[in-house]
Amino acid sequence: MHEILTKAKIIPVIQLPNAHCIIPLAEALLEAGIDTLEITLRTQCALQAIETLAKSNLPCHIAAGTLTSTQHCNDVKNAGVDFAVSPGTNVAMLQQAQSISLPLIPGIATATEALTAIEQNCHILKFFPANLYGGTKMLANFNSFFPSTHFIPTGGITTANASEYYQQANVLAIGGSWLTPIKLIEEEKWPEITKIATEALSLLSH
Ligand code: 3PG
Repeated sequence: MHEILTKAKIIPVIQLPNAHCIIPLAEALLEAGIDTLEITLRTQCALQAIETLAKSNLPCHIAAGTLTSTQHCNDVKNAGVDFAVSPGTNVAMLQQAQSISLPLIPGIATATEALTAIEQNCHILKFFPANLYGGTKMLANFNSFFPSTHFIPTGGITTANASEYYQQANVLAIGGSWLTPIKLIEEEKWPEITKIATEALSLLSH
């Protein structure tokens, strides 16, 4: 997973209004060079969209996002994801994910939560919501406490601060919903999404 995330650089956090738009959306992101997609479970169609993408021949890495229960772990594994992401750290979920070979990235906002996740053998953590919990300064602190742990900051990342987050030594990739605005998805404005994603990638360099 480390390699997939390093190559990905940016993970769009996608809230889908319907399942059928996942294929043109994935194609629009692939055209920009983004091949790792996080489909959040915040909308009803998410599992169906994950299944559709998993069965397609598109060269994407598929993540499910916003997992909040052990049942979600089972559901997304069955739908065919490569990995999953949770906004929080829950030991029962981490243990369930391990037992079904589902790589799960837990969300943390504090050192205490990070310790709980590290104790469960998780070394890639979602720092969420990054903007509300100290942003890049907090990431620098985490680097001194947890030098072997990598982070995916999400929450409040935009073109204005993407590069600053990405440059942190312990950041593998950044995540956010700004690349795939729900309005553009609803209106099927795929070239605009390709443009936003291309611009976003061009901002990033280590
Ligand atoms: C997430 O689920 O990771 C967040 O909602 C992403 O945060 P953002 O919407 O502020 O990018």
